[in-house]
Amino acid sequence: MKKLSITDFDLKDKKVLMRVDFNVPLTDDDKILDDTRIKAALQSIKYVLDNNGALILMSHLGRPKGKKDPKLSLKIVAKRLSELLGLEVKMAPDSIGPEVENLTKSLKPKEILLLENLRFHEAETKPEKDPNFAKSLASLADIYINDAFGTAHRKHSSTYTITKYFPGKSLMGFLLKKEISFLGKAIKNPKRPFYAIIGGKKISTKIGVIDSLIDKVDAIFIGGAMTYTFLKALNLSVGKSIYEEDFVTEAQKIMAKCDEKKVSLHLPLDIVVADEFKNDAKTQIINTDENIPDNFEGMDIGPKTIKEFSSLLKDAKTILWNGPLGVFEFDNFAKGTNEIAKEVSKINCISIVGGGDSIAAINKLGIADKFSHLSTGGGASLEYIELGSLPGIEALSDKK
Ligand code: 3PG
Repeated sequence: MKKLSITDFDLKDKKVLMRVDFNVPLTDDDKILDDTRIKAALQSIKYVLDNNGALILMSHLGRPKGKKDPKLSLKIVAKRLSELLGLEVKMAPDSIGPEVENLTKSLKPKEILLLENLRFHEAETKPEKDPNFAKSLASLADIYINDAFGTAHRKHSSTYTITKYFPGKSLMGFLLKKEISFLGKAIKNPKRPFYAIIGGKKISTKIGVIDSLIDKVDAIFIGGAMTYTFLKALNLSVGKSIYEEDFVTEAQKIMAKCDEKKVSLHLPLDIVVADEFKNDAKTQIINTDENIPDNFEGMDIGPKTIKEFSSLLKDAKTILWNGPLGVFEFDNFAKGTNEIAKEVSKINCISIVGGGDSIAAINKLGIADKFSHLSTGGGASLEYIELGSLPGIEALSDKK
């Protein structure tokens, strides 16, 4: 069923509540590392303002687990958005409550108010804890727009529960529309060979998706922290590396399924290991069929792996990449991610990259325009590929 979109409604003089994904990566000193997600929401934001709507924006930042954390305030995002728009962006002290209600009541057409981090309330991620949270958010506006593709896989108060308070008025924003149109087309009939590169640290959230990708792709390349769960599954010692004990059996099942379906699963051949989790730690390069020493942890894919992955990826016609291949935020461990990014950017194929961290790496290299599509959703893009839809999309109003 097609969903109503931002252009299907007259926004003039309406209070418009828009869920965006401003969950931007931050530096150690709390600055915005990459503003792609803010820029990606500009089209919908400008559209509401140009059409004389009063815009109330809401987002999460990080995972504060229901507690106020000044380090995860959206104030820095309000500042950046204001710079990008050349307009004042008012900042609310919270996302609900009397003060917020007063601010939204006095908000005029063409003005913007950004609510404070939704996840300062536990009910954002756990709507069942307080159904009134979604209701209070909904009471602030006449129309709801979801443009938070990156969070559309979450059944949260602001992405899912809230839509029941906007029957016939829960609309899809431009970014959401663009993302699903692009991913949908590429995945339905991918040009082959179709390869997936999967890295990053959200191991538990990705293993299920890898499982489903086995039915779609010709080969899977593994990097990042997930590697160590696979190495454990091969009975190798991983030293101090991050891995998930509970997913070792799953990793074994994935390897068996790849064998059965004749999908090549490429694990790193070598790893850059370090004695501490810091940029200038002492390092060594270890072949993955050797054991990682007890006092070392894996930080990046090694030179042999870069060479092997680069050569195997060359004939790709479609590449789906999610997650960095090492601790790329430390310059000394960004080589694997950077070299593979440069390699993929040169291949004449449809290249789709998802996940804030991978995109941050590509932006830092200044090669964003060499990729077919940079998705603002990491988990969301993978789940969309796996399931063909997302809860945050399903909950929107149907187009009659
Ligand atoms: C993301 O960065 O993947 C989205 O903003 C969702 O964040 P979450 O994984 O903390 O729900």
